[in-house]
Amino acid sequence: MKFTSEPVQAKQSAIVDGSAAQTSLAGTCAMPRPMEREDWNRRYASEELIWTADANRFLVAQTESLSPGNALDLATGEGRNAVWLAERGWTVRAVDFSDVAIEKAKRLANARNVADKIDFREADLRAYEPEVQSFDLVALIYLQIPQAELAPILVRAARAVAPGGTFLLVAHDSANLKHGYGGPQRSDVLYTAEQVVVALGGEIAIEQATRVERPVQTTDGLKVAIDCLVRGKRL
Ligand SMILES: C[S@@+](CC[C@H](N)C(=O)[O-])C[C@H]1O[C@@H](n2cnc3c(N)ncnc32)[C@H](O)[C@@H]1O
Repeated sequence: MKFTSEPVQAKQSAIVDGSAAQTSLAGTCAMPRPMEREDWNRRYASEELIWTADANRFLVAQTESLSPGNALDLATGEGRNAVWLAERGWTVRAVDFSDVAIEKAKRLANARNVADKIDFREADLRAYEPEVQSFDLVALIYLQIPQAELAPILVRAARAVAPGGTFLLVAHDSANLKHGYGGPQRSDVLYTAEQVVVALGGEIAIEQATRVERPVQTTDGLKVAIDCLVRGKRL
C-alpha cells in the first residue's frame, strides 16, 4: 500500500493490525504485553525509514512560531522531529530506548547536516530523568506506552520545561480505535487529552488540550486519524 501523506501512522497501523489479529484483541483474550526495546528494535531493523522523514504536522504547527532554544524530544524514534527542529535552529536532545532507532536518527541527522545540533541519548523513559526546568521545548510525539507507565513520564517531562518554555504531547487518541484510521489497535496505549492533563497534575499551565483530526491520504482514499494534543507552558 502506498501512502502520500505522513505515512508514519498508516504504516504503523498495518504492522500493529497484524499483531493484534494474532493476539485476538477483540473479546476475551488478555491485552498483549507492551512493546519493549527489543520489539521496537526489530521493527526498526530495516535499512529504510519505517516512518516518514517529514516532521509531524502538529509539531510543526505548534512550534514554528517559537524562538528556537533547546528542545527535548522524548521517544524520538528515527529522529524526524528532532531533525526538523535542529534545521529550525533548535539545539536538541533526542531520547529513545531503541538503539537501532537512534542509529537511524543519527544517519538522518547526518544526511540533513544537523548532526552537530542533536545530542542523541539512548534511555528508557520509565527511568530517564531530564534536568528540571532546563528545556525551552519538551515534545512527546506518539509515545505508545501503557497508561499506568505514562503518568510519571509526563510529570518528569513537564518538570523539564524551562520558565516560559513549551510542553507538547501528540498521541493517538482513544477515540481512534473505533472512529479513526490506523494507529495502535490496543486501548491501553491510547489516551485522551483530558487524561494527559490529569496525569500532568498541574505541573504546567495548559494552553490547549484537545482532539485533533489528521487526514491521511491512502490508496483507498482519504482517511482520518484521530490524535490528542496537549500543549502547556511553564509560566
Ligand atoms: C511511534 S514511535 C514515534 C517516534 C517519533 N516520535 C515520531 O513521531 O516519529 C514511538 C517511539 O517510542 C519509543 N519508546 C517506546 N517506549 C519507550 C520507552 N519506555 N523509553 C524510550 N523510548 C520508548 C520507541 O522506541 C519508538 O521509537
